[in-house]
Parts: sequence; structure tokens; C-alpha cells
Amino acid sequence: MKVTIVGAGNVGATCADVMAYRGIASEIVLLDIREGFAEGKALDIMQCATNTGFNTKLTGVTNDYSKTAGSDVVVITSGIPRKPGMTREELIGINAGIVKSVAENLLQHSPDAIFVIVSNPMDTMTYLAFKSLGLPKNRIIGMGGALDSSRFRTYLSLALNKPANDISAMVIGGHGDTTMIPLTRLASYNGIPVSQFLSEEQLAKVAADTMVGGATLTALLGTSAWYAPGASVAYLVDSILNDQRKMIACSVFVEGEYGQNDICIGVPCIIGKNGVEEIVDVKLNDAEKALFAKSADAVRSMNDALAT
Ligand code: NAI
Repeated sequence: MKVTIVGAGNVGATCADVMAYRGIASEIVLLDIREGFAEGKALDIMQCATNTGFNTKLTGVTNDYSKTAGSDVVVITSGIPRKPGMTREELIGINAGIVKSVAENLLQHSPDAIFVIVSNPMDTMTYLAFKSLGLPKNRIIGMGGALDSSRFRTYLSLALNKPANDISAMVIGGHGDTTMIPLTRLASYNGIPVSQFLSEEQLAKVAADTMVGGATLTALLGTSAWYAPGASVAYLVDSILNDQRKMIACSVFVEGEYGQNDICIGVPCIIGKNGVEEIVDVKLNDAEKALFAKSADAVRSMNDALAT
């Protein structure tokens, strides 16, 4: 199975590294606009093969889309990341132009590919890709919920002092500091609601830490994070390529689901070989529905910036 990743920067290269290391794809093409950069990243990752024991074929290219031909999945991470103090929304102007042209080039060479959009503001970039490519909605997937949910599970694991892998929890809604919705009511540890172990105040703190999880790292690192984002993309691509049908919160075009239309927003999805196999209704309560509606309004108004 062949995967192309556009943008060999922090997130793209980490994603390639995790996918190679875990044997998720048999072939990975890294493409970047910066002369020689993707070639260098691919060569560096290739040289891990004998020490970590993988057989994935890696190729790095500078802007040569012919090498991406026949990809099963294409991942778009090209664009600028946040700097400290910036919101994801502030990236819109520059990244919209990049994402649109990259997506069109990719489609030309891989007409059957499933598209995974990572560049921020991710919900708006996913909507842009959906509208400009004209593909069925199951083939355009925005990655944000997988990352936000892994951050939520990490903060829950710290509060509970239990392994994150024993915790099940999901973040839906927009992929923004104020728009994401950590579903604390539905979070569980080994099947038991976390509300049995944590107070309301503790849960509120976990939710608040999750929502600013990206900004916390941006302030610490001086640029946005890459290990967890790269691993989250790999986790999503694994579910597609290996038809794992995992339930992952992804930004997808909604047509009535969760009461919304004509936006891409994070909802729980079954992810398999066709991309989005199904959008799952997790039955929000009234308070969660109100938060979702507010989040959708914020995503919608950000999409308006595409027209200007
Ligand atoms: P980075 O700056 O390390 O890498 C971006 C790469 O894109 C650079 O190597 C650059 O040369 C390349 N690029 C720019 N224009 C291009 C074009 N037209 N064609 C091909 N390559 C091009 O940035 P990083 O940290 O990897 O972040 C990438 C994007 O992902 C940013 O927009 C960031 O905000 C977003 N992001 C999204 C997350 C999510 O959960 N959806 C999580 C983390 C980052």
C-alpha cells in the first residue's frame, strides 16, 4: 500500500517515521517544496531500517508529483504551523492557497486516493479540499480529533494515575482551542465512567488542559508539536489501509449529522478501507448539543474567510 505525505516538515516526517517503523504502509513518498528537504528526510528515515527492523520503501521528492502516482492515501501537512500566541485560525490565508494547489496536484496523479488533511485551520482546510476536489465525502478526512482525543486521554491518565491505553475518551467538534469538545461524560477507565474516580473540578481541569493542549506545547517548543500529531495521522492511516474500522473522531462533511450541514467538523467516525465508513451518533445530551452547535457556528464563520 502506497502513501504520499506532502510536507516533509515536523509533522509529515514524524508521520512517515511512525508509519515506516510500524509497517503501516509498504511504500511512502515524502514530497516538499523545499529543494532536497524531503529527499534528506526520507534518506534519514531509511537509515533507521536496519536498526528498527522495517522494510518500508521510502522516497523523497522536491515537488515531483509524478512520483506520488497511484497512492492509496495522501496526507497533506504542507503549510505554516503556529508560532507562540497565534491561533490556528490565523494561518488560513497562506495555508488555503497551499492546500488547494497541493490537493489538486495529488488528485491528478492518484485519482482513487483517500485524502487526509492535517494543515491548519484543519476543519476549514478539509472543507476547502472537499469543495475544490469534488470527491465523495467519505474520501476527505480531516485529522484533528485523533490528536485531541489522545491529548484528552493523556491528561485523564495523569489525573487518574492509570495508563492512557486503558482509558477511552473522545474529543469532537472543531479543532480549535475554544471549539473542541472533550466528552467527559462518556470518558471511561476500563469501561467505568471516569466520573466515578474524578471530581467535577478535576474533570473540568482535564477538559481545559485538553483544549489548550496544542497551545501549551507551542509555548514550550516555540512552534507547534509534531510527535503526537505525526503519530495520530499514522493511527488514522493505519485504520484506512488495514481496514481496521476503528472509531476515530474526524473532521468530515456533514449533511444533517449532529444537526449540522455544509461544514467539515469533528464527529465520531468508523474509519476503514473506504475512508469514512460511517458517522456514529453517540447521543449527546442537551448541554453537549448546545456546545456542538456553538462549535459548528465558529467553524462556519471561519469557512467564510475562504471567500474573502
Ligand atoms: P513545518 O513547517 O515543519 O512543515 C511544513 C512543510 O510544508 C515545510 O517543510 C514546507 O517546506 C512544506 N510546504 C510548504 N508549502 C508547500 C507546498 N506548496 N508544497 C509542498 N510542501 C510545502 O510544519 P509542521 O509543524 O509540520 O505543521 C504542518 C501543518 O500541520 C501546519 O499547518 C500545522 O498548523 C498543522 N498541524 C495540524 C495538526 C492537526 O491536528 N490537524 C497538528 C499539528 C500541526
